Order: sequence, then C-alpha cells, then structure tokens
Amino acid sequence: MNGKEVIVGVTGGIAAYKAAELVRLLKREDLMVRVAMTKSATRFVTPLTFEALSGERVIHRMFHREGSAIDHIRWGQESDLIIIAPATANFIGKMAHGIGDDFLSTCVLAATAKILICPSMNVKMFENRAVQENLNLLEKRGFMVMDPTRGDLACGTEGPGRLPEPAMIKERAMMLLSRQDLSGLKIMISAGPTVEPIDPVRYISNRSSGKMGYAISRAAVRRGAQVILVSGPTGLNPSSGLTFLPVKTAEEMKRTVFENRSGCDIIIKAAAVSDYRPREYAGQKIKKGAESLSLHLVKNPDILAELGSERGDSSTILVGFAAETEDLLLNAEKKLRSKDLDMIVANDVSRKDAGFETDTNLVKFIYRDGRVEEVPLMAKDRVADLVLDRARALREARLEG
Ligand code: CTP
Repeated sequence: MNGKEVIVGVTGGIAAYKAAELVRLLKREDLMVRVAMTKSATRFVTPLTFEALSGERVIHRMFHREGSAIDHIRWGQESDLIIIAPATANFIGKMAHGIGDDFLSTCVLAATAKILICPSMNVKMFENRAVQENLNLLEKRGFMVMDPTRGDLACGTEGPGRLPEPAMIKERAMMLLSRQDLSGLKIMISAGPTVEPIDPVRYISNRSSGKMGYAISRAAVRRGAQVILVSGPTGLNPSSGLTFLPVKTAEEMKRTVFENRSGCDIIIKAAAVSDYRPREYAGQKIKKGAESLSLHLVKNPDILAELGSERGDSSTILVGFAAETEDLLLNAEKKLRSKDLDMIVANDVSRKDAGFETDTNLVKFIYRDGRVEEVPLMAKDRVADLVLDRARALREARLEG
C-alpha cells in the first residue's frame, strides 16, 4: 500500500480512543496517515497522541497557524480514503446536510476521496430516525457506512452502537484501497498445520504457523474474492469477510476441502498436512511405564494429490506449496508433476528468514511448462499478492486457451 494516503477524521465520542489503535494499524500497512479532529474529539484524546502515532501534524482547528489556508481542500483531494471513526450523530448530521463549520466537516465537503463512516453512539441515538435517515442519505450519495457492532456501551446500555474493532475498520479500509481484480472469483485456501491425536492430551503436528496461508486469504478478501479458509489450529485471527472453516486432522481437512471445492476458481494449499497419523487413538492418557514406546503410524490422504487426480477437465487452478530442506527445485518440481498442479510455490524451510513461523518468505514459482520464477526475500503479505497475481494470470490463460 506504499504511496496511498488515508485521513482519519476523529469526532467527539468516547470511542475516540480506539481511533488511536486504528491509526497505528494503518501505519503498519505502509500508508501515509493524517489525522483531523473536531474540537470535541480533543476533549477525549489529545492531538499529541495522534501526532506521535501518525508522525504527521494533526489539524483540529479551522484557522490554525501552521500549514496553509486551503489545507481542508488539499487534504480531501490528495488522499485516497477518509475514515470518520468514531462518527457521532452530530457529525453524521452535518455531513448529510452539507454543513461545514470546522476543519473536518469542510474537508469532507471538498473531498474527492472515498469516505468510510464508522458510527458510534448510544443505541437509542443510533436507532433515532433522524440518524438512520441521515445515514441512508449518505449511503445513497456514495458514502460507505460500517455498521456499529452490538455489545455493552459506555453509557451503560446494550445494543448496536459500538465502534467496530480497529482491526475490522482497517480491513475494510484496505479493501477500499485495493484493486478489486479478484472480484467474482471463488478461492479456497488451506492453512496451518494439522494435528493428529495420540491420546486425549498428546498429538503429532508440525511447526507451521499458518502465516502464509492467512496472508493469502487476507489479500484475496481485500482484492474482492469470495474466500474460504480451511485452517488447522493456529494462533491467528481470520480476516472478516471470509468463510472460516476450522479443522484439526488431515482427514477432517480433506473432508472439508472436498465438500467445499465445487465452484472454486482457484485452490491454494498452503497447509502443512501431517503425512502420517497414529494408527490407534488411546481413549485414556497413556501412562508412563515402559523404558521405550513405539508409535505405529499410518499414512494420511494426500489432499492435494487427490484434488489433482480428480479434477478432470475443470478449469480450477491448483496451487501447492513445497516445504523443502534440500534439493528445493528438484523436489518441488516432482510434487508439481505427481500432484498434477498448475503451479507450486517452493520454499526452503531450513532458512531462518523463510518458511515456518517467520514473517518473511523466500520463494520460487514453478510452472507446468518448466518455467521457474525466482523472487527476492519479502514479507509474506507481498508474497501473498504475488501468489494471487500468478494464480489469476494462469486462470485467465486457461480460459483463453
Ligand atoms: N499436501 C496435502 N496433503 C498431504 C500432504 C501435503 O494436501 N497429506 C499438500 C500441501 O498442502 C502442499 C503440498 O501438498 O501444498 C506439498 O506438501 P509438502 O509437505 O511440501 O510435501 P509432501 O507431499 O507431504 O511430501 P514430503 O513430505 O515427502 O516432502
């Protein structure tokens, strides 16, 4: 998202403190973030907080000494997105009726950027007909409104009125800032490890963190795809806006993938599936006793190979990952052929900066025609976009051919 600019407009509600976290999350996405506050917002959080988090001057007065007299026009026209969070009933009313009596409201009036409104207020205020009609009016005019969530409100009541969590607002913002080149496509992604139980307290698993698969699912949602994420146990939160199907064992993952594969345009298997599982599951905890103990393992299904062998002439693009510690290209290419894939993403998991548990990855893309594309070490979020770019191009080529 390098080079994109976002304005966070903070108005005077108790949820103003959550806007601080929102600014921090947006900054982490390499966005330029500027903050404008109404006078009442400064009673809840100081401009200094936002200045420190955004690294930019915060404007909270119409006739401020620093900057230029036309900042309110420049800001709204130079930025890509304005997020009003929290948006009070008063500010919503002003936007709906064209009132510009402070920096933020005049900035919104002059804006050419997309505008996302995140209302937050007492439930009765939110349900008030005037507020609802104002929001409807704004939506009709092309403003985007994010529904408040339900829950305990600061005023002691319960119901819709809470500002959505900053991470949810950030995800919506990222979607609005992303190209929607995957819209209309259904993509299934598998991620994380599988766990194969030995007894009620023990299992066999692997070091997959799920970060790569989750990054792909996040990027696909942002780019407009309909996404199904089939995931083994991880410590990660799935993005909002996707269908999340949690599983534990390889057998469960296989069942879930096969039940949901129909209509998928692209299937990306980033999961680290356990190749074997204990032959027997001990119903009770296995007690310590013997000096040595053997575990009899049996083979798990190879989900990707079965998808490959059963796809017939379907146009689904199948993408696998190859986790290797030696002979990377040779082994990855063998997997591409034996599982009948369109592309395999090879990564050397013996490196400290690539593969399991890291935030970066060093991958090579290998195609059916023997082409190998090497890309430099980069954040998993960027690798995710590249995987999706390649899968989309393969699909277009298949449809044309
Ligand atoms: N895979 C799968 N089902 C399995 C094993 C692997 O669907 N039982 C998929 C993975 O999700 C990945 C690809 O196959 O996309 C390759 O996985 P990897 O673990 O690298 O290779 P394996 O086929 O398991 O072979 P090996 O463990 O011998 O390297």
